[in-house]
Amino acid sequence: MNPESARGVPRREFVRTAVAIGGTAALAACLGREEPDLPNGPADGSSLPARQHAWNAALATDDHGNVVPPAHRVLLYLSYAGEGPPTRADRDAMERTLRTVERAYPRSHEGLLFSVSYSPAYFGRFEASLPDSVDLPEPRALSPFETPAFDRPDAVVHLASDYGSVVLAAEQALLGERDELNGVDVADSLRGVFERVDRRTGFVGAGLPAGHQDVEGIPDSEPVPEASPLFMGFQSGFTKNQASEDAVTIPTGPFAGGTTQQLSLLRLHLEQWYGQDSRYHRVATMFCPVHAEEGLVEGVGENLGDTSLMEERGCPAHTGEHARQYGVVGHSQKSARARRDGSPIILRRDFNSTDDGRASLHFLSLQRGIGDFVATREAMNGTDLASGAVGQRTNNGILQYVTVERRGNFLVPPRRLRSLPPATPAD
Ligand code: HEM
Repeated sequence: MNPESARGVPRREFVRTAVAIGGTAALAACLGREEPDLPNGPADGSSLPARQHAWNAALATDDHGNVVPPAHRVLLYLSYAGEGPPTRADRDAMERTLRTVERAYPRSHEGLLFSVSYSPAYFGRFEASLPDSVDLPEPRALSPFETPAFDRPDAVVHLASDYGSVVLAAEQALLGERDELNGVDVADSLRGVFERVDRRTGFVGAGLPAGHQDVEGIPDSEPVPEASPLFMGFQSGFTKNQASEDAVTIPTGPFAGGTTQQLSLLRLHLEQWYGQDSRYHRVATMFCPVHAEEGLVEGVGENLGDTSLMEERGCPAHTGEHARQYGVVGHSQKSARARRDGSPIILRRDFNSTDDGRASLHFLSLQRGIGDFVATREAMNGTDLASGAVGQRTNNGILQYVTVERRGNFLVPPRRLRSLPPATPAD
């Protein structure tokens, strides 16, 4: 018997479920399965990157050099406990807490990667507005066919690790629910500084979606391929189709070295996708009709290497023509129309979720300013393409299978400003 499944439920499925539940019992159960043996992080944080979002160098890479996203995620939505601008004492307590977490785990996919981000509502606590170098509007609906609710917590902490138990233990340490983390004493916490107002969880990586497809939004036939890192059955995040960390970094002003984060909750409706649509249709709507015609995508896309072959096959430039010729356009080809100097302008770090028993995607993207996300989303909307067989949502990429339920915008400051930053820090 495979030792992974010796206790009935395969380890990775068990861990994913524990992360979704959270709390002390889930962590204990998780530790029984994972047993991570990790060194501590650096005693002195000065060697850590100045950019909170500089994760790529700390991630594993696949055979083609694409970064492999950390498997387990928790998003903590936090409300500042005080009124008005934050106090110096709270800022210091928060920074001490984050440093403890950094001392406990190596900053890597096996250890812990995290970032702290702040909403426009948070910056509204200050008299002065954010500088013009930061493009952080309140969230709004971004297509004519969506009516999302808006998230306006003060802060969101994004926790990521290949070990579910690491993510859970870090969460508990942050919330003041444990006094030790990987052998490091935890003297401070965010308790009293923030209240947790929401908790969202997820996962990404081959096997995880297939192991958790027994949820609303996915047909009972268990169609999600074992090799797929995401519910929709294809690989994502090819190096050539992602913005670089440099490209999404705010270049000037007091928040230089930071980035902005768009975080939406997308519900997936994959009954027709898997139940009725052909593979041709799935490839055409996810990538491009040329990819479907010429059979460019094998399996989940493992043959593609480090590119989805958008520019290489001229797909973005021919989107309108394809709409007329094939009656269908691809999600990737449409989205790839939003580029700067030939490169994508958002860095996607999205992951799937089964929160509330429904198949979802937490779409987390980083970009220099929220305007870059809006431009990309408008390209993906393809409202300009709707004519004939291509409707506002049907045959128009993957829009028909996805509903945007919530949106939120955040600033991920550079590390030195990550703890309750003022709106106008000194340069
Ligand atoms: C269920 C939701 C989604 C799924 C399953 C999905 C999947 C994919 C896949 C498989 C690709 C092609 C492979 C790759 O280049 O990584 C891709 C490309 C892309 N997607 Fe999505 N995506 C989703 C939502 C979104 C959203 C909400 C946006 C933002 C507006 C977006 C923006 C992009 C961009 C910018 C590209 C790359 C285009 C380029 O080459 O420049 N995607 N997506």
